[in-house]
Parts: sequence; C-alpha cells; structure tokens
Amino acid sequence: MLSAVHRTKWLGKTLKFFESVGSTQDVAREWVLSGAPHGAVVVADMQTCGRGRAGRSWFSPPGKNLYFTAALKLPDLHPPLGTLSLLVGVALAKALRKFGAEVFVKWANDIVSGSGRKLAGILIEGFEPEPQKFWALVGVGINVNITETEFPNDLRLTATSLKLVCGKELDRFEVLTEVLCSLETWWEMWSNNDLASFQQAFNELDWLKGKWVSALLPNGTTIEGTASGITEDGELRLVLPDRTEQRLVAGDVTVRLVSLEGNEC
Ligand code: BTN
Repeated sequence: MLSAVHRTKWLGKTLKFFESVGSTQDVAREWVLSGAPHGAVVVADMQTCGRGRAGRSWFSPPGKNLYFTAALKLPDLHPPLGTLSLLVGVALAKALRKFGAEVFVKWANDIVSGSGRKLAGILIEGFEPEPQKFWALVGVGINVNITETEFPNDLRLTATSLKLVCGKELDRFEVLTEVLCSLETWWEMWSNNDLASFQQAFNELDWLKGKWVSALLPNGTTIEGTASGITEDGELRLVLPDRTEQRLVAGDVTVRLVSLEGNEC
C-alpha cells in the first residue's frame, strides 16, 4: 500500500486503508471533519454501501477492484466546478492508458472502453466543513480484475474492467499509484487555473465527440444532436439538426448514445 504513495508529492501521503467500509466517501467526510489534511486518501478493499451518482449503488466486491476517495480542499479561486469531474476523468484515463488500456472519458463522469462499456466511475461530493472552506470528496471506483461472470446481471452487458480490456490481470496498487500520480499532476494544473492542457487532453479522450446522442432535459423534453466537445465551463455542446447549439450542464441531463438504427443504448 505504501508503494501507492511513494511517487506522489502530497496526494495520498496521508492514506487510510480499510478491509471493508460502508462508503469511502463517508469515511473521508468524517476524517476531514476531524482534521484530515488536503490530499488525504481513503482506500477500501470492499464497500458495503458503495454509492454512485443519481442515487445509484456502486458494485464493490472485495479483492478485485479499486475504491478510493481523495479529500481535496478547493482553492479560493478555482475554475468552474463543471470542469472538475472532467479533469478527474482525464487524469484517470491518462493513468489507465499507461497499462495499455484504450480508454476514454465519457462526459461527464465515466471512463469507458472503445465500445462504450463503463470501466470506472467518478463521484464528486462537495462540502463545507467550516464556513467558507470548501472541499471536494473525489470518489473513484475502477473495475480492475473483475471478469464478466462476476458482474451482477444488470451490469454484465454494460460494464467492463481493466483485465477484460488489457487481457491480463493487473496489480491494484500499481494502478492506484499511477492514478494518484496522475490525479496530483492534473489537480495542480486545475487549481492553478491552467486549463489549456486539460482542454486539449479532454478533446483527445472525448468518447462522445461526433456521436449522435439524445439528452433528457430537466423540463422532461428530449433533444437529439451531435456531441461536439465541451465549453470552457465543462458543459457538453450538442449541435441540433437545425445547426443551433445547445449546452448541457452535467447533473441536469441524462445523455444517451443513439445507434444508427435509432435505438438508444
Ligand atoms: C458513478 O459512476 O455513478 C460514480 C461511482 C463512484 C464510485 C466510487 S467507489 C469509491 C467512492 N465511494 C463510493 O461510495 N463511491 C465512490
């Protein structure tokens, strides 16, 4: 486990590892409230109540995958928060590519294989442990060595793992090392408001780019168009059939890929 932190400067230098927790998000929140430093990381072998976005659960069996939360203090002047999950996505994709996995960032919070199967998810929860001090709890779940038959039925057709993508078993703590190093580098750029490299990297890793998608808006209507990159605020640009552009804010919309036959998937 210590090998996970010897290559970083500050991220994960203070790290707690648990055999089992409810959710690393909750452990990290408690830890910040009792004085955890910026960059503290909570890792668990399994979670009994791992959570995803939009009230979903996160499948967190023992011995196979990575589940961690990094507690990061937001600088007073930071870029738009809509770019943060995309930045974490870029950091993850860059790290996982070092193992030979051809992975992409799917706006706004997912890491997917070329075929669009989900390999990792990002959950960012903000909170204010003391007045005017804002923290982000950056939760990351990565399917590392799990195989198809070990996924529950509802995930079997849509999820994948590094092992399935790379064709070989990987050391989870080597993966953690690469991911923390990458996250540290990209966080430093982000918190210094230096977004040029991020914009370029996102553009290269953008899985939705050029694909025809349907988006369910907060008012209940559905629109379809071509995903055409992101704005400086991290919104998704959707070019509609009449060539107008609609900007979608993560969290407000559900975006689905539409196949050539017109089926949503
Ligand atoms: C999603 O894709 O919906 C986000 C999934 C995030 C899962 C990670 S696992 C570590 C951390 N602890 C949790 O309970 N959730 C996040």
